[in-house]
Amino acid sequence: MTSYTLRSASPAKTRCDAVVVGVRQGSGGPELDEAGADVAKAYGRKLRPLLASLGVTGKTGEVLKVPTSGALPSPLLVLVGLGKKQDATAVRRAAGVAARAVTNAASVALALPADTPELVRAVTEGYELGAYTFTTYKKEAKSTAPGELVVLSPGARRKEVVAAFEEARVVTRAVAATRDWVNVPPGDLTPPLFADAVVAATKELTKGRGAPKVGIRVLDEEELAELGCGGILGVGAGSSAPPRLVELTYAPKGAKHHLALVGKGITFDSGGLTIKPAASMNEMKSDMAGAAAVVQATYAIAALGLPVRVSTFAPMAENMVSGSSIRPGDVLTTYGGRTVEVSNTDAEGRLVLADALVRATELAPDAIVDVATLTGHMVVALGDRVSGVMGSDEVVADVLAAAATAGEDMWPMPIPEVMSERITSSKVADLAQHDWIRWGGGLFAAAFLREFTAGIPWAHLDIAGPSFNSGSAWGHVTPGGTGVAVATLVDLARAVAER
Ligand code: BES
Ligand code: MN
Ligand code: ZN
Repeated sequence: MTSYTLRSASPAKTRCDAVVVGVRQGSGGPELDEAGADVAKAYGRKLRPLLASLGVTGKTGEVLKVPTSGALPSPLLVLVGLGKKQDATAVRRAAGVAARAVTNAASVALALPADTPELVRAVTEGYELGAYTFTTYKKEAKSTAPGELVVLSPGARRKEVVAAFEEARVVTRAVAATRDWVNVPPGDLTPPLFADAVVAATKELTKGRGAPKVGIRVLDEEELAELGCGGILGVGAGSSAPPRLVELTYAPKGAKHHLALVGKGITFDSGGLTIKPAASMNEMKSDMAGAAAVVQATYAIAALGLPVRVSTFAPMAENMVSGSSIRPGDVLTTYGGRTVEVSNTDAEGRLVLADALVRATELAPDAIVDVATLTGHMVVALGDRVSGVMGSDEVVADVLAAAATAGEDMWPMPIPEVMSERITSSKVADLAQHDWIRWGGGLFAAAFLREFTAGIPWAHLDIAGPSFNSGSAWGHVTPGGTGVAVATLVDLARAVAER
């Protein structure tokens, strides 16, 4: 366990095993960032030739370790690229890169741009998330993480800066816990086990005096049948592990606004009878990333004590192949009575979300936000680092604004008029789940979801791309589950609470 502190000291006077300084990609070549000015002063005229002989450029992702040989009280100087723009995004990434370069140091000081609350948040989140590892299933996992991490900020004694530092730690805890859930192998996180894990996490969060108050209800397959949640039951029908619906409530006194969060919790997506090809099935343990994100965001909002009511719905099912699986051609009756003709069992997310969205509308929240690894189409459209946002203009705008402050890349996508016609094209049921026209499949899915929102202001986040990093680490984003959307949802709740 690393202990985190915030201090206003100079990096040239801080004694740690390693001190991290940012390098800008300036127009006249690489230059140390202002936060490292004292380091530059300590090196004096030796700095330029040193940077030159090391081949430092300052570009994003670059990291170099230099022995200080007495030039600084710390034996090791870590130079990390800030790129051409030193905004919060650049700082968050640089801190993440630095985190993976200092794993052998016992104590580390970060002297990155941190003179505003926003930047202190970026440094803290970037470092902690960049240092994330998932070692539960490694036989010999020894932690090499530093025991002590010091964030240096000239504003370390200012109230807003201290608050930003502490709040950042609450958010990173939620993001890391989301990553953990996504990374757990699917056989160890079936719907009943996932629901148990949420019960345990809720208990842990809410224990003790002064702890945040979050209520939880878990609906099992019998209760789901009594309610008529045909979407969740249908998708879960092929699995020997029955489905669940987890509902959380955070209702602080005096809250003027009410937000409902809904997250797709497919613990494994084989595609069902419309089975996926092997290569597409490989990472489908991550198909519950939306559910994990909304649950952990709820915890963070509660832990921060934000004065906004939050009702969270996490439908959990495993989409499997067996004699009891739903078939193309089957008609499901969703919660509330609407019927859906299934034609592709791999478009299962919208079916579980349909039930959960209707549950959310019954509470008449001011807005509903759903988060789902919904379509490969969105990955084709936006790539694997950008989430698509669709829905009511005002909620979409709020989500995009929150994503910007949270440092997550999200982009608005339309729900074209023609999709409304296509979703009602079923000859046997109220709605068609799918229509085999590939083009704009992510937008068709959004139009389908909208049918279950009862006209309540709503936004849908398709995180199919950014929820799982199949490659190597970049910036603060480590391989595997990324915890995307958690920080955005927390910032959305912050903005709503301030209204
Ligand atoms: N879980 C997948 C979407 C997905 C794809 C998530 C890639 C992460 C990475 C979803 O259930 C799915 O299979 N969607 C289908 C929809 C189609 C059948 C309309 C898809 O994307 O092909
Ligand atoms: Mn699917
Ligand atoms: Zn899926």
